[in-house]
Amino acid sequence: MRRFLISSLLFSSSIAFQFPFSVPFFKPKDSGYIEQVQVSPRIAIIGAGAGGSSAAFWISKAKERYGINVEIDVYERSDYIGGRSTVIYPYNDTTLTPLELGGSIFVDANKNLMRASKEFNLTLTAFEDDDSDTGIWDGEKFVLVLDSGSYVKSWWTTLKVLWRYGYTAPTKTKTIVNSVIDRFLGLYTPEAPRWDDLSALSENMQWVSLTNQTASEYFKANGVAPLFSQELVEAATRVNYGQNVDKIHALGGAVSMAASGASGVAAGNFHLFKHFLENSSANVYLNTNVEEIKRIPDTSLWSVYTSTGSRAYKGVILAAPFHQTNINLPSDLAELIPPQPYVHLHVTWLTTRSERPRPEYFGLASNAQVPATILSTYEGVRAGGVEPEFNSISYHGKVGKFEQGAEEDTTTDPEWSVKIFSKERVSDEWLENVFGHVGWVSRKLWQAYPVLLPTSEFPPVKLDQGFYYVNAFEPFISTMETETIASRNVVDLLLHEEFGMGICGALLSGAENTTLTAASNDFVLGWDC
Ligand SMILES: Cc1cc2nc3c(=O)[nH]c(=O)nc-3n(C[C@H](O)[C@H](O)[C@H](O)COP(=O)(O)OP(=O)(O)OC[C@H]3O[C@@H](n4cnc5c(N)ncnc54)[C@H](O)[C@@H]3O)c2cc1C
Ligand SMILES: *[C@@H]1O[C@H](CO)[C@@H](O)[C@H](O)[C@H]1NC(C)=O
Ligand SMILES: *[C@@H]1O[C@H](CO)[C@@H](O)[C@H](O)[C@H]1NC(C)=O
Ligand SMILES: *[C@@H]1O[C@H](CO)[C@@H](O)[C@H](O)[C@H]1NC(C)=O
Ligand SMILES: *[C@@H]1O[C@H](CO)[C@@H](O)[C@H](O)[C@H]1NC(C)=O
Ligand SMILES: *[C@@H]1O[C@H](CO)[C@@H](O)[C@H](O)[C@H]1NC(C)=O
Repeated sequence: MRRFLISSLLFSSSIAFQFPFSVPFFKPKDSGYIEQVQVSPRIAIIGAGAGGSSAAFWISKAKERYGINVEIDVYERSDYIGGRSTVIYPYNDTTLTPLELGGSIFVDANKNLMRASKEFNLTLTAFEDDDSDTGIWDGEKFVLVLDSGSYVKSWWTTLKVLWRYGYTAPTKTKTIVNSVIDRFLGLYTPEAPRWDDLSALSENMQWVSLTNQTASEYFKANGVAPLFSQELVEAATRVNYGQNVDKIHALGGAVSMAASGASGVAAGNFHLFKHFLENSSANVYLNTNVEEIKRIPDTSLWSVYTSTGSRAYKGVILAAPFHQTNINLPSDLAELIPPQPYVHLHVTWLTTRSERPRPEYFGLASNAQVPATILSTYEGVRAGGVEPEFNSISYHGKVGKFEQGAEEDTTTDPEWSVKIFSKERVSDEWLENVFGHVGWVSRKLWQAYPVLLPTSEFPPVKLDQGFYYVNAFEPFISTMETETIASRNVVDLLLHEEFGMGICGALLSGAENTTLTAASNDFVLGWDC
């Protein structure tokens, strides 16, 4: 049996930890005596967003099921849980309906978040039901305007769409999207692969040709009329990823088109991540910046140095985009992670008494009705025109009290909440020009998602023994849900490596015991094993 004595002198920090301690920390199967355990082994998770909070949750599932003895510490540099999924309130008034500042929707195929909403008893808002009239703006004109109820729900059967693009483009696109969703759903079955390399996963999913070409190349090669990709698919890639179809990879394009069952947690999606952490019983350290991670010589342990101290860990899970963390890593590890540009996205929320944007801004007659949801295409620029000044503008209902059963808002001068995504900051003057009246404004610049250029190479999931990287998944697919899938995979690999047992037992591939049959539609890997 290996034993290590680690001197606390290794740590210059002011926080004292309980050293020395013994490793390994739990009783080997064949040993006849109880190991004297002084300190539980620990796993550090960096980041309390979708990835980090769900990582803690998956570890706690293994603890609960198999009695794995491990403590979880989650470090988060900001003062809130949720990372890129967080809310704000109109006029900063927390009695009003919250507005999503970052990640806002997930869909039926997102089984972890759907399941978590159910288990944690969170009320969902379905976006399909109040799908508003939608226009696609090219910078100078609307190339397409769809009536309420026909964009999200049924664009592929809408007459206006068929009229403009023909019958085959929508149906072929739907076939591509459905095939991606079908394979994606395989990630929740007992037979789901585990991966320490996204390229291997991509091959396993037969998605190499989706990640190594742009959306426009792939859709064209699959018989979709170019104008359809360049307007309707691009409207989706621009609102979802701030990227155009001739730049973004086709997997990003297909994911953007998969909107069936779009929902969000009514009180804010961050509640999902709060519940993951609460349910995991992890120690959560907010306002705590991780500054450096080092190997502890002659051991397989890691020391994590934060703004408040340091501690030794058997496992480290990095659940934030590495280059944005400013963490000092040993150079042999840092150089494993290629630079990854992220899309700089300006999110502007405002309230206005105008029920619609002003038609004059769009060059329309003053009595024309502008759609409540305006998406955009770059097609005007490609044809020599001007660039749209925004990626999307969307009305999100009347400003009102949030509590359920609250009295109907009787305000005589109601206001609407409007969300704008743009590449550049939009000025107060611009907002006045587009809306006429502006009540309240809030702006946020995000490093929103990776620039999803075509590639067949991805960052490593495993950086070293005991050290894993959740956000390696993001250049493949970047959503809240896929971060919970990436964390499930990482936790499974780490627990197998360090404890010989994963989230669903000893088998690395496939679940051992299932409470639901694998064939069941409701089965979700990791939840039902
Ligand atoms: C405007 C916008 C709209 C979006 N829309 C959607 C959508 O509709 N649907 C969807 O599914 N996804 C959407 N996304 C993407 C989604 O929000 C992200 O993919 C997801 O939330 C990422 O989760 P994460 O946990 O991997 O990373 P993050 O949420 O970024 O979490 C990482 C955390 O690590 C912390 N951190 C970083 N460095 C350190 C350090 N050194 N020490 C301690 N803590 C550190 C950060 O503060 C952060 O809280 C959107 C994103 C944006 C910005
Ligand atoms: C909003 O309210 C919170 C809590 O009261 C406060 O800390 C914050 O400074 C306020 N922000 C603004 C922009 O007023
Ligand atoms: C679930 O939430 C609803 C309303 O939000 C509440 O009435 C109900 O008691 C909750 N159920 C559980 C089991 O927590
Ligand atoms: C993309 O992947 C497909 C499928 O593996 C392959 O046939 C094709 O050559 C690749 N294209 C490029 C540009 O790498
Ligand atoms: C986590 O959730 C499960 C299932 O709902 C429940 O049995 C368990 O008690 C919860 N644990 C904590 C610490 O909240
Ligand atoms: C699976 O079930 C069998 C029989 O009920 C049991 O002996 C075994 O310990 C279980 N395995 C796990 C990992 O739970």
